[in-house]
Amino acid sequence: MSDIWRPQPKQEMVLRCWQDEAAYGGAAGGGKTDYLLMEALDQIDIPNYKGVIVRKTYPQLKEVIERSRVLYKQICPAARYNGTEHTWHFPSGASISFKQVRSASFASDWQGLSFDFLGVDEATHLTLQEFLYLLSRNRPSGPNTKVYCRLTSNPGGIGHGWFKARYGIGTVPPMTTMWTKSKVTDPNGKTHEVVRSKIFIPATVFDNQELLNNNPGYLATLDQLPQAERDALLYGSWDSFSGQVFSEFRDDPNHYDDGKFTHVINPFEIPPHWKILRCYDFGYTRPSACLWIAVNEEKRKYVIREFYTWTGTPDVGNKMHHVDQAAKIHEIESTDPNLKNRNIIDGVADPAIFDKSRGISIADDMAKAPNYIIWRSGDHNRMPGKMQVHYHLAFDEDGDPMIQFFKGCKNIIRTLPELIYDETNVEDVDSSTEDHAYDALRYGLMDDPITPRANKLPEMPKYGDPLHLRDDGKNVIRFNHF
Ligand SMILES: Nc1ncnc2c1ncn2[C@@H]1O[C@H](COP(=O)(O)OP(=O)(O)OP(=O)(O)O)[C@@H](O)[C@H]1O
Ligand SMILES: [Mg+2]
Repeated sequence: MSDIWRPQPKQEMVLRCWQDEAAYGGAAGGGKTDYLLMEALDQIDIPNYKGVIVRKTYPQLKEVIERSRVLYKQICPAARYNGTEHTWHFPSGASISFKQVRSASFASDWQGLSFDFLGVDEATHLTLQEFLYLLSRNRPSGPNTKVYCRLTSNPGGIGHGWFKARYGIGTVPPMTTMWTKSKVTDPNGKTHEVVRSKIFIPATVFDNQELLNNNPGYLATLDQLPQAERDALLYGSWDSFSGQVFSEFRDDPNHYDDGKFTHVINPFEIPPHWKILRCYDFGYTRPSACLWIAVNEEKRKYVIREFYTWTGTPDVGNKMHHVDQAAKIHEIESTDPNLKNRNIIDGVADPAIFDKSRGISIADDMAKAPNYIIWRSGDHNRMPGKMQVHYHLAFDEDGDPMIQFFKGCKNIIRTLPELIYDETNVEDVDSSTEDHAYDALRYGLMDDPITPRANKLPEMPKYGDPLHLRDDGKNVIRFNHF
């Protein structure tokens, strides 16, 4: 690099990445924005090179632009900044622009553009759809450039769920290359297989010695935050974060057998006399969720099976017709060892499926032969439903909650802890997030409510190695991920 700016070890690690996508950071102050500004300079000697650095809004971009004025002016004195275009022009002809995502004319602002380098700062402020749109602009602007994308972020925000899943945080050891394969059909109908590589490089403020030297009090500032925010911003925990609705949710594989202080458990055989409740939230372009809940004599509940109509990309439905969904539900009830041969499975669903304004309702269609999937209308009252989820999740002193999930119910286990509060209706869940399995659960629990219970979860042990930094995860693995 230059004498003006030297990468710190983690920044150097991400600067050396060759993958198509690299996500960097995970906590506050890790040197993410500085890194992104320097990465963007990598190809400025190529005349047709175009780079872009993105944030959600212009006010947020201002501090990035300010920092670029300091760094770029020193590193390349001949570069010129055009404040109207928010673009740096370099002597070779190359350029680096700063762009926002939030604007009424977002799609038309970005239409037709090409950027060899796409840098997204604070990527969890974006929805997956916004990010994927930006990614579609990450294409060659001319010959000889390398086309790639880099993202930085802290935990939390509307994009927390997709960012965490896309970069394997919590599921794949950090610094492991992940490969995805997808099929794309061209206008002539020919199918091409596209392979992409991705990696997550974690960094916290402890990796930014410059900041700790210049501002030793910064650590104390982060340490004084409320626990969820502190764990996220200081230690880079992606499991608890500010704005998380069901922060009491625990998934502890060490206790899948005894079921203590964990909501996720190993499956077991359901006694024949237990009631089975089937609950459903309908979707088409967004996923449908159907859950089967076994209820014991004490109203203790077990989510034993799920059916989720998604493409494998978070919050994207696979457009399965509702009659086909009914057929699938029928098939599951005829084959699942805990469901087949049951006389009564009671169905409660999203009230919207009873709407007859466009002729026959979805519920009527699903009830027809040969599937006979019968629904009653669920209680759509959002706040009491949310409170029922809290009451059921609460652990007693022995570590027993009133609801647990068989480990195969992957989508409710994935999406429930990722729900965040709505920015305007601050007590409620943000319904623009992936809340379909939660909605189905709400209808189910409102159908068999319990009295309020407070959570007796003991204070969690302080984070020892939240980012698995001590894991030796440098191996390359291959798997299909969204
Ligand atoms: N390699 C470096 N050399 C000198 N200073 C650096 C370096 N990396 C980061 N810094 C400085 O450390 C401070 C924090 O860095 P930066 O703003 O890039 O972190 P961040 O991870 O983006 O923080 P936040 O989470 O607050 O957005 C800034 O003052 C930045 O200039
Ligand atoms: Mg930053």
